[in-house]
Amino acid sequence: MKRIFNLSLCVLSAALLLAACGKQEPKTTAAAEPKVYLVGAEATFAPFEYQNEQKEIVGFDVDVMNAIADKAGFKIKFVNTPFEGIFNFLAQGDRDLLASAITITDERKQTVDFSEPYFEANQLIVVPKDSKVAKFADLKNMKVGVQSATTGDEIVQKELGKSNPNIKRLESATLVMKELEGGGVEAVVSDNGVIKNYIKNNPSEGFRFIADPEFPKEYYGIAVKKGNADLLAKVNQGLAAIKADGTYDKIYAKYFADTAK
Ligand code: ARG
Repeated sequence: MKRIFNLSLCVLSAALLLAACGKQEPKTTAAAEPKVYLVGAEATFAPFEYQNEQKEIVGFDVDVMNAIADKAGFKIKFVNTPFEGIFNFLAQGDRDLLASAITITDERKQTVDFSEPYFEANQLIVVPKDSKVAKFADLKNMKVGVQSATTGDEIVQKELGKSNPNIKRLESATLVMKELEGGGVEAVVSDNGVIKNYIKNNPSEGFRFIADPEFPKEYYGIAVKKGNADLLAKVNQGLAAIKADGTYDKIYAKYFADTAK
């Protein structure tokens, strides 16, 4: 009796084994295409993200994001995306990530999740060299240009009043600087990296910048759709790895060699 039982057990397990083997996927010749994560960036924000002559999106954020993706083992593609409403692209699933010199703020944290900070920044005021402006409060009754929906926009709205017609809100930092060149505004408030890069590359415009101690420190983060913990963990893991092995410092030096960290 015992032997019969043992025997049938043996037959049963052999059958199960065979069934399991039979279930195995047949070996495919071509490997399945890996998922390519779409990264949104408003690409008129040099040196963080801008288009080169071939219309490719390049810059500090692109190098950082590529290095992170390499380390964490995923593929990415940058897609030019308007800044105003940029967070909706994550919610709707049209972008997987945003790397666009985005300042981490409490308000934004309500809608998206951010990686660990990857860059420290602050706002600066840009004015023509002969301007009388010395500090932020001096902009009170002036025409001021900002990129819509940015932290510069927020800060200026707070100081000048939300619906103050003196605030000129435009869709890109490039347009805002053009406005200053043309005299349509008397000052611009924007991120330090972008302002310094602009002044360096356009010395003939005769602009200078002012740092006001009133402006708080800002930290850029990479955003994912709220709750996308898997992708966020990969991004943070990659970011930690490129910080640890010197890759981040190399990228930083490539873009900001002449600026103190
Ligand atoms: N750091 C600022 C913010 O988060 C400006 C970012 C603008 N970025 C861009 N790629 N245009 O509001």
